Amino acid sequence: MKFILFLMSIIVHILFSTYFTAFITAETSSITQSQSLSYGNTIVSSRGIFELGFFNLGNKTYLGIWYKNIPLQNVVWVANGGSPINASSSILKLNSSGSLVLTHNNMAVWSTSSPEKAKNPVAELLDSGNLVIREENGEEGETYLWQSFDYPSNTMLAGMKIGWDLRKNFSTRLIAWKSDDDPTPGDLSWGITLHPYREIYMMKGTQKYHRLGPWNGLRFSGRPLMKPNDPIYHYEFVSNKEEVYYRWTLKNTTLISKNVLNQTAQERRRYVWSGKSWSLYATMPEDNCDHYGACGANTYCTTFTLPMCQCLKGYKPKSPEKWNSMDWSDGCVLKHPLSCKDKLSDGFLLLEGLKVPDTTDTSLDETIDLKQCRTKCLNNCSCMAYANSNISGTGSGCVMWFGDLLDIKKFPVPENGQPLNIRLDASELDAIRHKKNSKIIIVTSIAATLVVTLAIFFICRRIIADKSKTKENMERQLEDLDVPLFDLITITNATNNFSSYNKIGEGGFGPVYKGRLVDGKEIAVKRLSTSSGQGTNEFITEVKLIAKLQHRNLVKLLGCCFGQQEKLLVYEYMVNGSLDTFIFDKIKGKLLDWPQRFHIIFGIARGLLYLHQDSRLRIIHRDLKASNVLLDEKSNPKISDFGLARAFGGDQTEGNTNRVVGTYGYMAPEYAVDGQFSIKSDVFSFGILLLEIVCGNKNKALCHRNETLNLVGYAWTLWKEQNALQLIDSSIKDSCVIPEVLRCIHVSLLCLQQYPEDRPTMASVIQMLGSEMELVEPKEVGFFQKRMCDEGKSSSTLDQMSYNHELSFTSFDGR
Ligand SMILES: *[C@@H]1O[C@H](CO)[C@@H](O)[C@H](O)[C@H]1NC(C)=O
Ligand SMILES: *[C@@H]1O[C@H](CO)[C@@H](O)[C@H](O)[C@H]1NC(C)=O
Ligand SMILES: *[C@@H]1O[C@H](CO)[C@@H](O)[C@H](O)[C@H]1NC(C)=O
Repeated sequence: MKFILFLMSIIVHILFSTYFTAFITAETSSITQSQSLSYGNTIVSSRGIFELGFFNLGNKTYLGIWYKNIPLQNVVWVANGGSPINASSSILKLNSSGSLVLTHNNMAVWSTSSPEKAKNPVAELLDSGNLVIREENGEEGETYLWQSFDYPSNTMLAGMKIGWDLRKNFSTRLIAWKSDDDPTPGDLSWGITLHPYREIYMMKGTQKYHRLGPWNGLRFSGRPLMKPNDPIYHYEFVSNKEEVYYRWTLKNTTLISKNVLNQTAQERRRYVWSGKSWSLYATMPEDNCDHYGACGANTYCTTFTLPMCQCLKGYKPKSPEKWNSMDWSDGCVLKHPLSCKDKLSDGFLLLEGLKVPDTTDTSLDETIDLKQCRTKCLNNCSCMAYANSNISGTGSGCVMWFGDLLDIKKFPVPENGQPLNIRLDASELDAIRHKKNSKIIIVTSIAATLVVTLAIFFICRRIIADKSKTKENMERQLEDLDVPLFDLITITNATNNFSSYNKIGEGGFGPVYKGRLVDGKEIAVKRLSTSSGQGTNEFITEVKLIAKLQHRNLVKLLGCCFGQQEKLLVYEYMVNGSLDTFIFDKIKGKLLDWPQRFHIIFGIARGLLYLHQDSRLRIIHRDLKASNVLLDEKSNPKISDFGLARAFGGDQTEGNTNRVVGTYGYMAPEYAVDGQFSIKSDVFSFGILLLEIVCGNKNKALCHRNETLNLVGYAWTLWKEQNALQLIDSSIKDSCVIPEVLRCIHVSLLCLQQYPEDRPTMASVIQMLGSEMELVEPKEVGFFQKRMCDEGKSSSTLDQMSYNHELSFTSFDGR
C-alpha cells in the first residue's frame, strides 16, 4: 500500500513538473523540480546569511551568491562568469535528472553536471554559502550530487576545501575575476599542486607566482603567522590516498571571513567583517621575498638584511658581476662541486629559520626518521637537501630535494621558519667548521688568560687584605666571578685614551666610546660618570648580575674594568648604531622598510619581556627609548643600558624612588610625577617607541605642525577619529602591511593608557602583536598635551634638569 502511494506521488510529481512550473516568489532556501527562479527573485539560506539570484555588473547579468546582510554586492560565487546573459529572460531550473540549468531565450547558458541519475533532487542554498543539489529525502551525511564549493570563483569561504579529489582526479582551485566588474576568469589562480610533497601555489597563467610553502604539520612552511592555537581560525591540511585538501573554519561561527583572490592587486587577501566594513587581515604575497624565485637558484631571500638575496652557505654567485649589480637571476653554485665518491666525501650543513625550497623535485617518505633520511639522501648523488616532512612534536617523516634549491626564504626569527640540511662537500664543511672552531679557540684562550689574570689579582688582593680568609672561601669567590675583567691599559689603548674622536654617544650614565682591541675586535666602552657614591664592591656585584642577562635582543656585555677613579663597561660593538638615527631621519628612514621595522618592534618586545619576566632578576629598564636600541649588522635590535639604573644609582627595582632616571617624552605619568615605577612604566615607554617607529616622529617633536599635542596626543586624536592611517611614516608607506601597522598603533595605545593597571604586560603585548586576536579598545592615554617644545634639552635625562619646569600634565598635577 505504502509503495503504491509512493509510486503515485512520483507520477503526480513528474506530471506536475512537466506541465507546470511554479516561480519562486516567497522566501525559501531551495528549488525543487517544480520550481524555477527568474530574474528579480532570489532564494535565501535558512538563517538568512547568503542569497542566490541574478545580479548585474557592467550591463551584464550573472547568477551568483552573495551575503544577504552585507550592503553593496559582496558576490562570493558566480555561476556563469564566462558567459553573461541578458536580464529580461533568464531562468534557473532544476531538471528531472538533477541538474541546475540556466537558460536565456530557451537556450542553455550554463548547467551543472551530475553524473548519477537523481530520484528526487532538490537544490538548496546552505548557510555556509554552498549551493548543493541533493536527494530531497537524502540521509544525513550523504554526499551531494553537486555543490558550488567544488567550483569556486575568486572567494574561499569557511569550510570550503581547496585541493584534489584523487578518486575522481578532480581539482578545486580559486580563480580570480578579470577585474572587480568583470567576473570572467582572470589568469591568477590558487590551488594545490600534486608534487610528492604537496604544496599550494598561486599561479599567473602557467607561471608560478607565489608559494606558501608545503604544509609541515603545523602550518605552511612560509606562513609563520598560522598557528595551531590561532584565536580565530582553525586550519586543516589533509593528504591521503583519496584526497588532498586545505580548508579553514572559524572557531567562533558568528564571525564572517573570506579569502579573495584579487587580479588587480595580484594578491590573495583575507578579510573579516567588522560589522561595518571588511577589515583586511592578511595578504599574500606579503613582501618581496614572497615573489616566486625572487633570488635565483641556491640562494635565500630575506627582508631584514641588505642585499635581500644571499647565497646559501657553501655556495657562491654563479655570475659574480651580475650578482654584484643586484641581478640575482643566475643564482649561486657550489663552491666545491660534490665528489659523491663514498659516504665520507660529503656531509650536511644545518640551516635554520627557513621556508623550505620549492617541492617540484622532491621525494617523500613519511615512514622514516631524520637519521634514515640523511642516509637515504647521502646515497643518492642528486639529493641536495633533506628535512623532516612534519615538524610537529619532535619531528617525523623525510623529504628530500633533488637538483637546484629554489625559492627559499629566511625568517628573521628562527622559530618562524624550519631547519633544512643542505649537502656540501666534506672539504667545504671542514672549512666552515674550522672557522667556527677557531673562534672558539680564541674565545677560550682569552677566557683562560682572564681567569689567570683574575686569579692572580684576587689572590694578591686577598693576601694583602685579609690573610685569615681560608683558601676554600677564596676559590668559591673566583668561581663566582664570571664577568671577564679588562685591564685599564687595554681599554685606554683601544679607545685612544678616550679620545673625543672615539666618542660615539652620551648615555644616561656617561659617555660611550668606540674601541678596537689589539686582535681587531671592535668594542663599545661605556665610561660611567664617577659621581656615584656606590662602592666598587657593590658595583661588581651588580655588574655580575647584568652579565648574567643574556638574550639575543640585549646588547652583550663583554666585560668590565674598574679602578679607583674608573668604572667601565665593555660591550659588543653594534655596526648600525642606534635606532633613532634611522627612524627620525627622512633619508636613512627609507633603509628600514615595514617588515624590518616590524621585526625590530618584535625584537624589542622580546628583549623587554626577558628583562621583566624571563630573567631571574626582574629588571625594569626605566630608560627605554629609540637611542637605547642598537642595531646589529642584520638590523636585529638590541636593547642597551638595561640594568644600569639598578647597578648604578638606582637603589631599588620596584616601588618608589627619589631619583627619577629616564627621558622626557618616554616616561609614564605615574613615574615622572610620583616616582612610582614598575614594569608597567617600561610598557609605557615601549608604547611611545612603538608609535615612533610607525610614525617616524619623536614624541616631543611635532612642533612644526603647530599643534598643542605631542605624538601620543596626536595619535590618540586620530585614533578616535578613525584616521590612524595618517600616522604612518611616509618612508614606509609603500612597504607597510596595513593590518599589521594598525595593530601596532592599537597595541601602542593600550601600552600608553593612563593607569598602569590598564596597560598590558610585555607577554600580552607580544601575543597581541603576533596574532590576529581581537583587541580591546584603549582607554584614555596619559600625557598627550604639551605646552612647550624644547628640542635642545629633550635628550638629556631628567635627573640633569628640573623636570617640573619642562613637563606639563593634563591628567596629573606637577608638584
Ligand atoms: C563569538 O562572537 C560573538 C560576536 O563577536 C560574541 O558575542 C560571542 O561571545 C563569541 N562566542 C564565543 C564562544 O566566543
Ligand atoms: C582588488 O584590489 C584593488 C586594488 O587594490 C582594489 O581596488 C579592489 O577593491 C580589490 N577588489 C576586491 C574585490 O577586493
Ligand atoms: C636518486 O633519486 C632520484 C629521484 O627520486 C631518482 O630518480 C634516481 O634514480 C635516484 N638515483 C639513485 C642512484 O638512486
